Amino acid sequence: MGNSTASLDAGAMAYAANHVAEDESLTAARQRATELGISPIGAGSGAALRLLAAAISAKNVVEIGTGTGVSSLWLLRGMADNGILTSIDAEHEHQRAARQTLASADIEAHRYRLIAGRAMDVLPRLTDGAYDMVFIDADKAEYPAYLEQALRLLHVGGIVAIDNALWSGKVADPAQRDSQTVTLRSLGTEVAESGRLISALLPVGDGLLVAVVTPETQDA
Ligand code: DHB
Ligand code: MG
Repeated sequence: MGNSTASLDAGAMAYAANHVAEDESLTAARQRATELGISPIGAGSGAALRLLAAAISAKNVVEIGTGTGVSSLWLLRGMADNGILTSIDAEHEHQRAARQTLASADIEAHRYRLIAGRAMDVLPRLTDGAYDMVFIDADKAEYPAYLEQALRLLHVGGIVAIDNALWSGKVADPAQRDSQTVTLRSLGTEVAESGRLISALLPVGDGLLVAVVTPETQDA
């Protein structure tokens, strides 16, 4: 009763995570991810990304970490019909798999550009303030640099979403001090305390930290 979110059991969490079912294209994309040894977002996080993209009718979205296209497809399905996803991944093999995923889902090829390269080589070439949404899901050590780039790329009202904000529960456990966990924990604090961002850490999947960019005020 009452404030019961802290006591949601595993069954309820799993039910919520699968509130929106995935189709064959997403199932096949997950299979490709297993084969390539990478971990895509879960269906609950995908549904949240699609919701956010739809809420702002996102036209220009950047994805950092394409993988096999699971999150790419969820994002594209929320974006405006003429929206274009720019997705960056260091691995050509991932992008080949993502192309299969998006083609199988009948997403028109002009709606995405997949850029193979290191995110920190590619992001600085993208235009300031030209994007509605940025999704971060690549190298954890580079998350602070990705966020800095995201804040440059987004216009006011734009949304940044960051996967793995809970990092298998390690972020919430102060005894965990490995470098990836420390990086993710301090990034979460930075976002929460930023005077420029209105954020929420959604306890979905491995933690989806989402924030809206507000007009520049004095930073906390
Ligand atoms: C890892 C990376 C991810 O983006 C993820 O969602 C889960 C695990 C990893 O590098 O282990
Ligand atoms: Mg991830």
